[in-house]
Amino acid sequence: MKIFKGRIFSFLRKPEDINDTGSYIYLEKGGVTFDDKGIIIEVDDYSKLSKKYENTETIDFGSKIIFPGFIDLHNHFPQTQVIASYGTKLLEWLNKYTFPNESLFVDDKHCERESKIFLDLLNHNGITTSVSFGSVHPNSVEYLFQEAHRRNMCVIAGNVLMDRNAPDTVLEKADKSYLSSKEIISKWHNVSRCKYAITPRFAITSTPELMEVSQTLCAENQSCYVQTHLSENIDEIKTTLELFPDQKDYLSIYDKYKLLSNKTLLAHSIHLEMNEIERMKETKSIAVHCPTSNLFLGSGLFKFKELEEKGVRTAIATDVGGGTSFSMLRTLDEAYKIQQLGNYSLNPLASYFWSTMGNAECLGLQDQIGTIKTGNCADLIVLNSKSTPLMRHRMEKCKTIEEELFILQTLGDDRAIDSVFIAGKKIK
Ligand code: GUN
Ligand code: ZN
Repeated sequence: MKIFKGRIFSFLRKPEDINDTGSYIYLEKGGVTFDDKGIIIEVDDYSKLSKKYENTETIDFGSKIIFPGFIDLHNHFPQTQVIASYGTKLLEWLNKYTFPNESLFVDDKHCERESKIFLDLLNHNGITTSVSFGSVHPNSVEYLFQEAHRRNMCVIAGNVLMDRNAPDTVLEKADKSYLSSKEIISKWHNVSRCKYAITPRFAITSTPELMEVSQTLCAENQSCYVQTHLSENIDEIKTTLELFPDQKDYLSIYDKYKLLSNKTLLAHSIHLEMNEIERMKETKSIAVHCPTSNLFLGSGLFKFKELEEKGVRTAIATDVGGGTSFSMLRTLDEAYKIQQLGNYSLNPLASYFWSTMGNAECLGLQDQIGTIKTGNCADLIVLNSKSTPLMRHRMEKCKTIEEELFILQTLGDDRAIDSVFIAGKKIK
């Protein structure tokens, strides 16, 4: 058992606006205790905890902020070396850079090395839960799960299902994918802190047979998640509707194969029709915003306010390697700028909620991750708002915790992530 001492910030519920001080706990001289299994026992003022748990080791983080670990709801484990590939939009980017790089994951040694590097980079940036695409090769997620298990990290992942419109080196026939997916589910789903996501890449790389396989996997494994891409890019939407001419819109393709539920994560969801928005609301499926990717690939501007108002559930993610940063702080900053272009100033309480408790709720895992509360995992990060000369200087004028969080997201990066703990164990 241990006590962490410092400033503590964690959400209690979704904030209504920037003045909603009842939506979070903020303890200036706080403490959090957790047991040897990394489960949080108590959060309170440090003075009370230190009396109650007299002989317990205290780790003092001074004036730094103890915060729930960030949750990344969408990224691609085989794309770490695709980041910063110049000059293309989605479909050309996939063909020119991404598919060739993903084909390297046929090699086990490559999978092993990349899974370690990938999770290191996430953890280094304060991301303690990851929802990830593998490559088409089943061993890609096998190695990712092994590495997640080794560090006791919550990782939700799936081998990507794709059987057309890409090089043979990244395609697998639908019946073979069914068998390999089944095998990984039985080996890893709900084992350690790993969970499986059925992962048809997107409609363009899926034959109707592959969609049927996804449907069957879904029906047979209802506790698994589903992750795919939706309406990211105008050319993508056009090609998709040409491939599925009997469907009235993009979302209807996934709907036809019964892939939409409250466990379905639809990355991007930018250029949606009214019918699609309505259907996402009805099915409780989740629009996953990937701001750095949407800007980098010139895909479009996510309509956060409209989706919120229409009652669609939303989440936030890095989308590495279309996304350009493993940092959730950089991701929140770009999300803010995208909303500014739509004349909406996303407030820092909303964006930090998104990246912690909000994403946890989207996964239905709010009683395990995303907040610092009794019974949750001690997936904790320590934020340093004075980690660069500019931040130190700017912080001289900072008056409130909301302002401090905004400074952190606007100016911060991996240097602001002082320490990272997964289930109470130090990883950075
Ligand atoms: N759509 C289908 N595959 C991908 C991918 O790997 N990245 C992004 N950003 N969009 C996709
Ligand atoms: Zn993606």
